[in-house]
Amino acid sequence: MSVATKTDVKTAIVKPRRAVLAMPEYHPPLAAREALRLDFNENTFAPSPRVLDRLKQITAEELTKYPEREPAERKVAAHLGLDSSQVLLTNGVDEAIHLMCCAFLEAEDEALICTPSFFMYDVSISMMTPHLVKVQADETLQFPFERFLAAINERTKLIIVASPNNPTGATVSRAEILAIANAAPHAAVMVDEAYFHFHGETVLSDIATTPNLIVARTFSKAYGLADLRIGMLIGSTEMLTYLRKVSSPYNVNGVALDCLTVAVEDQAYLAWYVEQIRIGRERMMGGLDELGVRYFPSAANFVLMKIGPLHKELVTAMRKRGILLRDRSADPGCDGYVRITIGVEDHVTRGLAALKDSLEEIGWKAMHGFSTAEDQEATTENQEAREL
Ligand SMILES: Cc1ncc(COP(=O)(O)O)c(C=O)c1O
Repeated sequence: MSVATKTDVKTAIVKPRRAVLAMPEYHPPLAAREALRLDFNENTFAPSPRVLDRLKQITAEELTKYPEREPAERKVAAHLGLDSSQVLLTNGVDEAIHLMCCAFLEAEDEALICTPSFFMYDVSISMMTPHLVKVQADETLQFPFERFLAAINERTKLIIVASPNNPTGATVSRAEILAIANAAPHAAVMVDEAYFHFHGETVLSDIATTPNLIVARTFSKAYGLADLRIGMLIGSTEMLTYLRKVSSPYNVNGVALDCLTVAVEDQAYLAWYVEQIRIGRERMMGGLDELGVRYFPSAANFVLMKIGPLHKELVTAMRKRGILLRDRSADPGCDGYVRITIGVEDHVTRGLAALKDSLEEIGWKAMHGFSTAEDQEATTENQEAREL
């Protein structure tokens, strides 16, 4: 085998599709995360202990086989009270989004999302069509239902709605989702329920009567299996047939499928973790009230805080204390906003204590409202503190 030297290296003249050149790139800031991870909305603790037990039993021979998805799909479908033809396991919801775009979008079609929301919608949709319509939430960051509904037209072919939404934690009611699906019978409507467990409301029972509705769920969050990459799409058998066609038969690896099966069996563990988050979320919101930090009420395992001009300084001060936060300032309408993930009890305690110290250290002044005169004053003071 010959090794190319530096002088042999040539630039490729082949170019990708125009859509690939134009599409945005998603580079999550994943480097150096050996700290308390309150930045990515992952489970901060562990999956069911049965998962590690199963991993320890994996044999070398098992690794030589192509994965078989169907038995795990049967198990998950039975758990949801559905037929296995209505469930497609995917390589995380990330792949689920990608498959939705591949299955439903022609280059001339429109896709509809609201912003701010999960960035991968943008990436996968832009790969298929330049006609991505974004409806921006107002300053309350609630779902802009009326304007969203009004943006549906005969070219709309794919609609994605996250409930609870990321990074806001806001929800979309079942009535609103059904109104959207009914207003666009010619479009596939994907409801991203990645944070379902922390909220408890779902439109899963509506897939029988609303044929264009598809629900996406992940095992990355409450189940704590983000590293194994497992998500799913749930819908009518007909819709799932199209999605299965565009999916690789081996999209989820066998180790992940095995672990998924045992994780789903341990519902007591899942209930414990979800309860930790619900209690922790209340504690976090109460703690933020005490600190004078404004935030958006959240139905998910994170809270979006309004920090203002000192957002970067806060993230840096927290990192110094071994705690990671996610600066969301670059998201549309989120300038000055920082997101904190809710973990188990001890993680919330550490998060709150570090927040108190960090806010003091950076000389942050409390905000009293979202747009009051006092708030303007605090913003100016925070701006000045940053410039010091
Ligand atoms: C709304 C939303 N959907 C999907 C995902 C990705 O899920 P997965 O890990 O299953 O790809 C995330 C991850 O942060 C998310 O916030």
